[in-house]
Amino acid sequence: MTSKYYITTPIYYVNDVPHIGHTCTTVAADILARYHRLNGENVFFLTGTDEHGAKVAQAAAKKDLTPEDFCNKISTRFQKTWENLNISNDFFIRTTDPRHVKVASQLLKKIYENGDIYKDVYQGLYCIGCEKFLTESDLEDGHCPLHPPEQTINQKEENWFFRLSKYAPKLIELIENDETNYIYPEGKRREVLAKLKAGIHDISFSRANVDWGIPIPWDKSQTIYVWVEALINYYSATQFLENKEKFWPADVHVLGKEILWFHTAIWQAMLLSVGLPLPQKTFVHSFYIMKDKKMSKSLGNLITPEELISQFGIDGSRYLIASSFPAQNDSNVSLKRYTKTYNADLANGLGNLVSRTANLAEKNDLKISPHKQVKFFNGIDKSINAFNLPKSLDIIWNTDKNSVSSINQRFTQEKVWELPEKKQQEVLREIISDIQQITYNIKPFMPTTAKKIDKIFSGKVTAPDPLFPRL
Ligand code: MSP
Repeated sequence: MTSKYYITTPIYYVNDVPHIGHTCTTVAADILARYHRLNGENVFFLTGTDEHGAKVAQAAAKKDLTPEDFCNKISTRFQKTWENLNISNDFFIRTTDPRHVKVASQLLKKIYENGDIYKDVYQGLYCIGCEKFLTESDLEDGHCPLHPPEQTINQKEENWFFRLSKYAPKLIELIENDETNYIYPEGKRREVLAKLKAGIHDISFSRANVDWGIPIPWDKSQTIYVWVEALINYYSATQFLENKEKFWPADVHVLGKEILWFHTAIWQAMLLSVGLPLPQKTFVHSFYIMKDKKMSKSLGNLITPEELISQFGIDGSRYLIASSFPAQNDSNVSLKRYTKTYNADLANGLGNLVSRTANLAEKNDLKISPHKQVKFFNGIDKSINAFNLPKSLDIIWNTDKNSVSSINQRFTQEKVWELPEKKQQEVLREIISDIQQITYNIKPFMPTTAKKIDKIFSGKVTAPDPLFPRL
């Protein structure tokens, strides 16, 4: 029986167009999805856009568009970006999809009927950028550090509250005892645990003054807090898409560290309330930073995926994103750094290896049959499953005995081009077989390049155009 593998990315806010911060999460999830498909699993890979709430409504108003038109426009932009990057998502969910609205309303109603939702007054600071109420520990200089100060506002309203505190003991027990260790990496698991143990408050699940949202099913004067219905997307897609029921629970939610709490405390508590199985794992990564600050639109320090693709091509961009992926620590990125890596690893590395080998093979009139026995190098399974994508690439490029650099080195050291004909062909065949191993390993990362290289080395070899022109 083939096993299922359900992987998700956060659904991105449409208040703005994508930058490579969003892109790194989506590309990482895509690499995992492709890796699991190669292993024969039945994969469901979900991404999408988060379209309700004050922040999106504000952004639409600024552009003089209705929220609907605005959402259509930006959501399309996200979808296009993922197509451009060859992302293999099986579905793209939009929270304005009436089918999602229905499932989200039903799920909330169920929580309410279980007695886990009650009315109370909220007063405190709220960050429109984060779409969340702030606690003392969130503040830096009295405002949210991730967004401009004016987005931190004082808010007082009567809201529907969720009994999050009721679920704290159960959450603590689960996180402490669950062998699957559902929060990864360990540091984040400890962080959530400490916060739960410190004592937590119930949280507001509705908004009195946000029209752009899903009405509370039993109180049409309020809308569902955007984060609550956004989290439900992961479940709703499995309910309204045909044949997808079997995919719940998610095997892994991939996300950035700023939304850890929503996914590991609030979401899990909601699921506990309605008695649904919990996601197996939450993988939390760090940030791309530029000039020492988190890359974001509000801070104006960003690189767009379009910029990346136009300079480095699709697979070039995928490589650069994966090799700079902020798995555990923040990762400093810049176009200058990317250009350096591109030239070293792709133009002079893999690109040069393929072209010098193919050139010499053509001169020798070599015919090559497709390689059958392929597998992932030692350490790849482990590093991919830990989302340590820079490590996986380092294995393929540098540390495996069959790495790109070791084959390149052999080529140079043995001066293959000067060997007598018979020996030259023998060595070339070995090198091509090694390249075919590499090709298999890069499939999840650079699917088109892998296909191109496979094609070059099947049948009669002819010298190809450079895979990665030097910049
Ligand atoms: N809409 C919410 C998520 C709801 S999920 C139920 C949201 N959207 S967002 O557009 O702000 O996207 C946040 C996610 O984008 C982060 O968790 C991370 O995955 C990614 N990133 C955004 N900026 C990033 C960096 N600078 N670096 C790395 N990832 C970043 O939050």
